[in-house]
Amino acid sequence: MSLSPIILITGANRGLGFATVQALATKAPEAIICLGSRSMSTGNEAVQELRQAGVTSNIEVIALDVTEDRSIRSAAELLRQKYGKLDVLINNAAVAGNPKPDLSDFRDVYSTVFNTNITSVGCVTSFFMPLLSASSHPRVINVSSARASVALQTSGKLPPTASIPYSISKTGLNILTLEMAKLHENVRFYCASPGHCRTAFNNYRGKKDPADGVKVIVELAVSEHGQYEPGFWEFEGDAMSQVAW
Ligand SMILES: NC(=O)c1ccc[n+]([C@@H]2O[C@H](COP(=O)([O-])OP(=O)(O)OC[C@H]3O[C@@H](n4cnc5c(N)ncnc54)[C@H](OP(=O)(O)O)[C@@H]3O)[C@@H](O)[C@H]2O)c1
Repeated sequence: MSLSPIILITGANRGLGFATVQALATKAPEAIICLGSRSMSTGNEAVQELRQAGVTSNIEVIALDVTEDRSIRSAAELLRQKYGKLDVLINNAAVAGNPKPDLSDFRDVYSTVFNTNITSVGCVTSFFMPLLSASSHPRVINVSSARASVALQTSGKLPPTASIPYSISKTGLNILTLEMAKLHENVRFYCASPGHCRTAFNNYRGKKDPADGVKVIVELAVSEHGQYEPGFWEFEGDAMSQVAW
């Protein structure tokens, strides 16, 4: 079994997943960082970009489409053979969408968003559970959103909703996190809210630099065991704080 911490990030070929890999390379130089990507070519391009930026950490591209069971099982088997464990799973991959005005694809759009953002997180986490259980301090970090917060949704303080199925999916993801935490008491489960960041997700209209957005994810990933209690976290100003459910 590997002595280095093994960290896997899904959907890490671009956006916040990529920024997470970049930040972890500095914050956890001893870790082996598994950059999950549903396309090996975009995953390899991402690593090339990191190398050109001077990143020398141990980064490995892992083919992983979170909506394909065969792909998840292959990725888990690869990690089992190479490292025998997984210390940190960061479920970052997600999609958003809106049905057409004629509603012809309403069911498809909702199903796709729920499948990727909720069902697939449950599936990936469950399929990797034997490897997580082999770690001395396993943790799962689910990349959520302020949109998930029922308290914020009902406060009237959130900007207008861009995608209703996406909002619902992130609330569902939070509940999934709470349920899985009850099922797997040996694993610490977290939800992380990165804030509105400039990525393709919002046509780069977000206010935050992705490097700032991923601080909460990286902090939860590298924190001492027990430093942060399981919960819904954000990094605002220069400190970690809990987001109301
Ligand atoms: N940006 C924000 O302001 C913001 C705010 C709150 C929360 N978040 C959350 O942060 C996370 C990352 O968002 P982002 O802004 O970085 O979005 P992004 O730039 O659109 O990146 C999404 C990533 O997910 C991957 N992905 C989508 N479907 C996948 C699948 N079936 N299998 C594997 N990977 C898949 C994409 O891969 P491909 O390149 O192959 O499509 C891409 O790498 C998401 O969970 C999002 O909900 C973002």
